[in-house]
Amino acid sequence: MSPLSNLAARDIETLVHPYINLASFRDSGPLIIERAQGIYVYDTDGKPYIEGMAGLWCTALGYGNAELVDAAAAQMRKLSFAHLFSGRSHDPAIELAEKLKEIAPVPISKVFFCNSGSEANDTQVKLVWYLNNALERPGKKKIISRMKAYHGVTIAAASLTGLPGNHRDFDLPLPGFLHTGCPHHYRFAQEGESEEDFAGRLAAELDALIVNEGSDTVAAFIAEPVMGAGGVIVPPRTYFEKIMAICAKHDVFMISDEVICGFGRLGSAFGCEKLGFVPHSISVAKALSSAYLPIAGVMIPEALYQALLTESEKIGTFGHGFTYGGHPVSAAVALKAIEIYTRERIFDRAAKLAPQFQARLGTLNGHPLVGEARGLGLIGGVELVADKASKRSFLSQQGVGQRAVKFAEAEGLIVRSVIGDVLTLCPPLVISESEIDELFDRLTRALDKALDWVTRERIAPS
Ligand SMILES: Cc1ncc(COP(=O)(O)O)c(C=O)c1O
Repeated sequence: MSPLSNLAARDIETLVHPYINLASFRDSGPLIIERAQGIYVYDTDGKPYIEGMAGLWCTALGYGNAELVDAAAAQMRKLSFAHLFSGRSHDPAIELAEKLKEIAPVPISKVFFCNSGSEANDTQVKLVWYLNNALERPGKKKIISRMKAYHGVTIAAASLTGLPGNHRDFDLPLPGFLHTGCPHHYRFAQEGESEEDFAGRLAAELDALIVNEGSDTVAAFIAEPVMGAGGVIVPPRTYFEKIMAICAKHDVFMISDEVICGFGRLGSAFGCEKLGFVPHSISVAKALSSAYLPIAGVMIPEALYQALLTESEKIGTFGHGFTYGGHPVSAAVALKAIEIYTRERIFDRAAKLAPQFQARLGTLNGHPLVGEARGLGLIGGVELVADKASKRSFLSQQGVGQRAVKFAEAEGLIVRSVIGDVLTLCPPLVISESEIDELFDRLTRALDKALDWVTRERIAPS
């Protein structure tokens, strides 16, 4: 192991990092990023990396965009803070809410601003509970999400999340949060089952869960159009059509978590458009501001807004809100980001680049270490397996995905490894055709090195 730089040593002594084995991290230390431009980030030695994950699925317009920087600086000079509590307001929040209403894929009435995807999803849960109290059905409160879903880490959002690492020893999920089957055909379809049949089975499973629990106890269903942090899982054909029919049958409110899929990732403005479903409400974050500043929102339909009116009139207040929700500087940056998305036709650009991206991704299916390479638009997942024929995974403690991430870093490429040794790809939407080729060339070399390592070390399959 190379001696840790001074900055790395200081990091280890001062920070608690999310999503790492905190014990082994004390030996490995951090990768410290110092600056960035376009789709490249640079470490403290000046080494460039293609940011193959757009940060954390968020820097859609890449780095160093002067228009976004200027929008932030101008707003900070004019009005550095104002809030939306108790009837106060400011024009960036009003304008941004108007813009979101205009571009929303479903009719929405109002926008509630928060600072993160987790806060947006926590807000969704609270609004649905409020709704059912307004509708005088206080027993209809359970929320269903899916195994392997990722909806955040605050207590309700983490309860929605369907990943064991977000629950274990945090005493989660809370009661009343249920998880139905994960729509991953490669892993969970039965032998010979078509995508449509698999979707039908998942819909039947959801139906049975709601019936078992009692449809008068189930308030909402939440889903990412394409699951991100669970391993980039594209649902089987007809999945949402069938799932939406079950939600409608039981009067279950449907929430689309567009925190990753919103703003062009799948080649359409919103993921639900691409997957062909019409949710009641939508969570947005991340690319809303291209991650130049934190901002998130809940898109609220008229019927839900009417319930908020009723309840707040009864109680005397709407008791929910975040100090920085709709922060004027974040809102000004988000407005500028949407202006750029529209002017530069960024969502069409993502749609045009998608066939090349998906074709290069698809060729990885031929690699001996890859069980399935999958994706949609400009998002992809590469699932590493110990045995292609049986789809056997490596043991998690063998750390094959993490090793591959390190090999990719050595090649000058940043990817992530999520549960099940799935390498995830989600480059900035401003990536060029030649940069896509470069990204996959680097990834292929990293996979070759990972294969050499697995072979050399005789990493036994699980
Ligand atoms: C689909 C989805 N929802 C919610 C979240 C949580 O967002 P945040 O980390 O901003 O709280 C994420 C984060 O990756 C996400 O991918």
